[in-house]
Amino acid sequence: MNKLYKRTLITSALPYANGPIHIGHLAGVYVPADIYARYLRLKGEEVLFVGGSDEHGVPIALKAKAEGITPQDVVDKFHHIIKESFEAFGITFDIYSRTTSAIHCQTASDFFRKLYEKGEFIEKTSEQYYDEEASQFLADRYIVGECPHCHNTRAYGDQCEVCGTSLSPLDLINPKSVISGSVPILKETKHWYLPLDKHEPWLKKWILEDHKEWKANVYGQCKSWLDMGLQPRAVSRDLDWGVPVPVEGAEGKVLYVWFDAPIGYISNTIEYAPDDWEKWWKDKDSKIVHFIGKDNIVFHCIVFPAMLKADGSYVLPDNVPANEFLNLEGDKISTSRNWAVWLHEYLQDFPGKQDVLRYVLTANAPETKDNDFTWKDFQARNNNELVAILGNFINRAMVLTWKYFEGTVPPCGDLDDYDRQTFSEFSETKLAVEGYLDNYRFRDALKEAMNLARIGNKYLADTEPWKLAKTDMKRTATILNLSLQITANLSIVFEPFLPFSSEKIKKLINKTGLKWEQLGRLDLLPEGHHLSQPELLFEKIEDDAIETQVQKLLATKKSNELSNYQANPQKENIAFEDFLKLDIRTGKVLDCQKVPKADKLLQFSIDDGMGGRTIVSGIAQYYRPEDLIGKNVCFIANLEPRMLKGIASQGMILSAENVDGKLVVITPLSEVLAGSEVK
Ligand code: 2FM
Ligand code: ZN
Repeated sequence: MNKLYKRTLITSALPYANGPIHIGHLAGVYVPADIYARYLRLKGEEVLFVGGSDEHGVPIALKAKAEGITPQDVVDKFHHIIKESFEAFGITFDIYSRTTSAIHCQTASDFFRKLYEKGEFIEKTSEQYYDEEASQFLADRYIVGECPHCHNTRAYGDQCEVCGTSLSPLDLINPKSVISGSVPILKETKHWYLPLDKHEPWLKKWILEDHKEWKANVYGQCKSWLDMGLQPRAVSRDLDWGVPVPVEGAEGKVLYVWFDAPIGYISNTIEYAPDDWEKWWKDKDSKIVHFIGKDNIVFHCIVFPAMLKADGSYVLPDNVPANEFLNLEGDKISTSRNWAVWLHEYLQDFPGKQDVLRYVLTANAPETKDNDFTWKDFQARNNNELVAILGNFINRAMVLTWKYFEGTVPPCGDLDDYDRQTFSEFSETKLAVEGYLDNYRFRDALKEAMNLARIGNKYLADTEPWKLAKTDMKRTATILNLSLQITANLSIVFEPFLPFSSEKIKKLINKTGLKWEQLGRLDLLPEGHHLSQPELLFEKIEDDAIETQVQKLLATKKSNELSNYQANPQKENIAFEDFLKLDIRTGKVLDCQKVPKADKLLQFSIDDGMGGRTIVSGIAQYYRPEDLIGKNVCFIANLEPRMLKGIASQGMILSAENVDGKLVVITPLSEVLAGSEVK
């Protein structure tokens, strides 16, 4: 805690290479990790930022099987897509590698063997489901069956995605193999377990006593795991996709993906710095920080540290600033439901606007609780903050300097009280932003940075140099000089957050090489320094661009509803005689009106071939009354009359309920006489 370190190793969760990445990944893990890495580099610190794709695990094997390709094909495709997205968004990994690399497989294998030889595992034989047709043991995700809680018939062996309950394969009712569809049998198999219970005492002290400064969400989750008591965890699986377990008698078994993935941080470091990788992992002067999402907390705070401790030669992470989740328009982001804003699609729809997304995702980062991304908020933050505050201030400072001083930095005369007050407000910015960044509070840090632009904007609005220029050129020069100094400060403070825009600001002020330590100074641009031509940093995002995105999501929602649709189970059989009791007829709608003071009701006057009748029906939300006049409908004629809003309804018009709950009136395919019986 508050220890001084010589260097910082930043890791960010390795995303599974079975799909592209979306805004949730960026907001939760990669933007904050990148802000932190850029900030430390700007301070001149020694930093290594490692990332990579997580390419093992059952979902990848399952996807390959479903698509009739190899798991390697799957990960090759997505590794490159993911890597390109990160590059496009300016995530400055020093290395972005993958867990199918030879160096990773070797490192993970060696790591396991060392622990095995030190006697750090326990071996246990247990009964697991086995598919006799496919001659293989079934990983949890390879088994589907009925959820014992909600009776969804497509629950997986590890979780029911309908009610969210965590399951074990043995909980499933009527389990079936995903591979062959056959009913699996239980068969004995041997696995290696990391005895987390043995590590519990030191983990308790290390986290609960020595790391009280960890974020409340992280600390709280660890505490509840530790309070429940830790159990041994299997670190091997019966599977043919992964790093083979490197001991005799382990044929057909691979390392559990959560055992090999975090070792990916180490193997990536080895790949990047083969000769001095150990200084990052084994020197107590190295600070290790893991950036992850909340679903990874137990692995990074408990399991991986236990692995490192079991090895004995590694240092433990200093912090694990995990974020909560980002939702999208009120719903959980989901790859399988395509409920996401995919980065490669965003780049197509909003080319060159990477910083806008980085800004919105940081300003609204799920640091302490789940947060919601909405396209309206995205638009508002762009238009009201980036355009109206940051962009506007810099543009005015640039344009006015060109107008009155031909694009050179004018001399700064004596400061007046207002200048000094403005300066004192922004001289604190450096400390404030630093304080927040050092404590992984990226939202607050960004807010503070934006305050600097607000101060600049207010300064120009209050001093009105465009008016002063008519009478007092000396004062105008001072005001613009100070405004340009603020602009230079903005290029520094925004570098970690909005790297592309910071680069543009530096081009505008024609200045490179500014360092974090210079933040807060008023002498960054010397008098006579020549500026580039003004250019707008940000542009307004119009309503139609937002509407397009909202419509895209609505279309996704609709198609999900359709594909998830399951007809209601059939009701109990009835006797034919009972059916005959129903008198269903056709009729023609002679008139149709809204029932006053009843949102849902329409009053029909029906030609029923029997002298006419009135029927009230609850379909006003779905039809305009005039559209129904003249239509043929079907109705139950012998239903006991009912009073609805003071009207006697003599029967019931038949409608079908669509997947979205909308009622659709049933009508005969061709003209029939009113009063015809429906049989
Ligand atoms: O949750 C995930 O997406 C995992 N692939 C994260 C792995 S992080 C690390 F351990 F590699
Ligand atoms: Zn369920």
